[in-house]
Amino acid sequence: MRRKVIAGNWKMNMLPNEAMEFVNTLAPLVKDTKNEVIICVPFTDLFYTLLTAQDTNIHVGAQNMHWEESGAYTGEVSADMLKSINVEYVIIGHSERRQYFNETDETVNLKVKTALSKGLKPIVCVGETLEQKEQGKTIEVITSQISKALENLTEQDLSNIIVAYEPIWAIGTGKTATSDDANNSIKEIRNEIKSKFGTDDVTILYGGSVKPENARELFTMSDIDGGLVGGASLNALEFNKIVNY
Ligand code: PGA
Repeated sequence: MRRKVIAGNWKMNMLPNEAMEFVNTLAPLVKDTKNEVIICVPFTDLFYTLLTAQDTNIHVGAQNMHWEESGAYTGEVSADMLKSINVEYVIIGHSERRQYFNETDETVNLKVKTALSKGLKPIVCVGETLEQKEQGKTIEVITSQISKALENLTEQDLSNIIVAYEPIWAIGTGKTATSDDANNSIKEIRNEIKSKFGTDDVTILYGGSVKPENARELFTMSDIDGGLVGGASLNALEFNKIVNY
């Protein structure tokens, strides 16, 4: 179901004490918002963040997981492990994981399926590189990524998924896609989902240098349901301005 969602992605930042302070600062500021507020935090912050966010409207997510249930995968974290401490969301297929940690469309699909089967809600990321954009391949790339990421899912699964369109050239660069371009790409992702599942009723976020100054323009576009926010989600006061755009 489409709804307004503002999700923070802390990446490899914030220690547990900083995470708890963040939640204590943010919670009263966002308590009346109609938008869903999510923060995706490093593994070591999850437990502290979840405890501090109890009895608030802040939802908590992880930034990755393995697709296997358990086993000899040194350094990995399973869906059951996340679920056991009440983690609700998990980012899957972020471009930094695709770029630096060999995440592929196939492993993204495996992870999405495992996450759903374990009751976690995946935030599935897609997006084109600068080179692909310059070659005019944006739509081809992102529709292929979303099609593979959601392979073998059902229409029912869509209500437990959030998609994030994040053009790679816009991540952490200060360059934002124009609201029209972002909206158009997201429309194409919706069309692809509609052709596969018969409905495009899925929440799709924009990510890439979202800030308090551009949040409103982006989030009020017809097909954009909110944002996945990196840098500007590290400061509770800044992030609050985005949540309450
Ligand atoms: P950014 O990151 O807001 O710092 O550009 C977004 C993301 O990678 O999710």
